Amino acid sequence: MLKTMLLGLSRVPAMKRAVTAFPLTRRVVDRFVAGETVDDCLRVTRELLAGRLLVTIDFLGEDTTTAAQADRVTDTYVELLDALAAEGLADRVEVSIKLSALGSQLNGGYELALDNARVICGAAQRAGTTVTVDMEDHTSTDATLRTVRTLRAQYPWAGAVLQAMLYRTSADCREHLGEGQRVRLCKGAYAESADLAHHAKSAIDRNYKRCATLLLHGAGRPLFATHDGAMIEHVQAEANRAGRTPASYEFQMLLGIRADEQRRLAGLGHPVRVYVPFGTDWYAYFMRRLAERPANLLFLLRALVERPGKRRVTSGF
Ligand code: FDA
Repeated sequence: MLKTMLLGLSRVPAMKRAVTAFPLTRRVVDRFVAGETVDDCLRVTRELLAGRLLVTIDFLGEDTTTAAQADRVTDTYVELLDALAAEGLADRVEVSIKLSALGSQLNGGYELALDNARVICGAAQRAGTTVTVDMEDHTSTDATLRTVRTLRAQYPWAGAVLQAMLYRTSADCREHLGEGQRVRLCKGAYAESADLAHHAKSAIDRNYKRCATLLLHGAGRPLFATHDGAMIEHVQAEANRAGRTPASYEFQMLLGIRADEQRRLAGLGHPVRVYVPFGTDWYAYFMRRLAERPANLLFLLRALVERPGKRRVTSGF
């Protein structure tokens, strides 16, 4: 109920204006978002790499309303990838992109977003790293998977994301079992109707495990995006049964969530990649993080009554 309400509010412009204008919100946002500029995000990235973690960087922006704005997002990714190459970080840092930020929601947006994604993939190839295409709500699933297939003709390392909450996802997993295919499996962060998606946590978890098993027994490189201990245990056990080495798959978690678990898994020799978002357009991303864990709302409320500047939290809950 609260989750649905928060996800609904993530699309309400008046709420966005109110939340983003409130100075103290910023202190809570800092927990999940690595600042506003490329330099901010590189600083956070270097800290994570020093802790033997890997990184995928997301330049936040889902409200792209003009082609010029989509071009600016694309240019920022190219600038970022050039900076990663110049600093020698591209072997451990990749980028995540959202097609809506690259213009997919505009008129004729499919081609525009594809062209922009190609430019970013070209920059990633020059830098020596990879790109993963985030999955948004169900209205874009087919178009997003089509885009990834097209990108893979030129850039076979382009990564797709599948959401275990959708009924269709085990069928989609079967399409992504080929040699070297990079697929990130997550539970899904968007409000979807019961015609299309599981709502009960137990059903989503069951489907996550089922899809994880399929991917681990395939020939691709599965990327398990979850903070859920039960999913992590399932992946480790099933990877053993499939005869996989830890290096052949990854765990992925969001910045600011379960940092202790990120370090623990990395200490066991698992590749662990942290999703690091940055940019000024953080509202929708932030609201989805609140929706995933309503306890985060208490954290927000506490920040509102504490003195400003008293503390800045950057690590896990
Ligand atoms: P679940 O929500 O069941 O949480 C399990 C436990 O994790 C909780 O009990 C809590 O301890 C902790 N936790 C989870 N979320 C938390 C939060 N916000 N704050 C504090 N603690 C929290 N989604 C999508 O639709 N498209 C996408 O492209 C991506 N991409 C993506 C990349 C990466 C690297 C990650 C980690 C996640 C995504 N997601 C995503 C988001 C994903 O779909 C999902 O909403 C969240 O990861 C939460 O699901 P969990 O698997 O963590 O389980």
